[in-house]
Amino acid sequence: MTSNELELTAQALVAPGKGILAADESHGTIEKRFKGIGVANTEENRRDYREMLFRTKGAGEFISGVILFDETIRQKAKDGTPFTKVLAAQGVIPGIKVDAGTVALPGSPNEKRTQGLDGLRERLTEYRGLGARFAKWRAVITIGDRIPSSACLRDNAYSLAVYAALCQEQGIVPIVEPEVLMDGGHTLERCYEVTTETLHTVFSTLHHQGVVLERMLLKPNMVIAGKESKVQASVQQVAEETVKCFRRMVPAAVPGIVFLSGGQTSPQATANLSAMNALPTSHPWQLSFSYGRALQDEALKAWKGQAANVSAGQKAFYNRAKMNGAARSGRYSEKMERELVPA
Ligand code: 13P
Repeated sequence: MTSNELELTAQALVAPGKGILAADESHGTIEKRFKGIGVANTEENRRDYREMLFRTKGAGEFISGVILFDETIRQKAKDGTPFTKVLAAQGVIPGIKVDAGTVALPGSPNEKRTQGLDGLRERLTEYRGLGARFAKWRAVITIGDRIPSSACLRDNAYSLAVYAALCQEQGIVPIVEPEVLMDGGHTLERCYEVTTETLHTVFSTLHHQGVVLERMLLKPNMVIAGKESKVQASVQQVAEETVKCFRRMVPAAVPGIVFLSGGQTSPQATANLSAMNALPTSHPWQLSFSYGRALQDEALKAWKGQAANVSAGQKAFYNRAKMNGAARSGRYSEKMERELVPA
């Protein structure tokens, strides 16, 4: 892939009206999601579930790319078509999660570091051969008593930067994901402060590592109060504070910011993104989504693991994708939640 192709891929992933589906749940995470609907975590069920999402008619109108897990990028649909081909037929770009999950940060058991740099160059070469054109690496930052530590921020920024540089070397667009968790009772102001510090460390380290900003995407949290906080900010406040933080911290050369949903409800994640795009100031980057739970929760509940519910699951997924597509230009309204025809 030429450098220009990397830029074009990054831009295509944040094309107007579209965003990314994160369907890269590890076996442990998909187990949790399946447990919620009483479905056994077998290879066949994982395939059927993802096939339902990927074959949703019209999904390509709102979904530019899908992040896959190692098993899924090698998997075939029931009729033997590789999933990467199923996605290509929808005009959707396949991506791959390449980190190997988190472990405790040495010396600070309540903080995490992400593993997976060893052998990454070789794995990227293989994934590119399998059709991946972009990748994801997630770093986790926890807010708590005297954390995050600067050791945690530096360690995670370093891994993200080496990962991103390796991706660009191998012709893959890196999604750089520093996630400041919503867990805890912290205020929105504290989230603002920690997100600022995190992004500052990440972009300084990306610079040192020679990562080309035009050839990457940033996948951050929104600036939001902790889940257990008694004071929850309004949609407008989340939108204003998030954009203020990113204007100060994210260089304009980055083509897009694709938010994670992080435990927000589906309507909340859509409303917050829409409010950001409806702000009167124009932004230097595209503001889009790369949601996991906020795109899938309703589809999972409609499916319940039963073949007879596939079209209901697809309808739920399509509706949610459509509402997030509208949020890309600030046109989502709560009314849309009721107007969409239930399956
Ligand atoms: P959520 O939107 O469920 O937070 O998942 C996005 C993701 O890919 C986290 O790494």
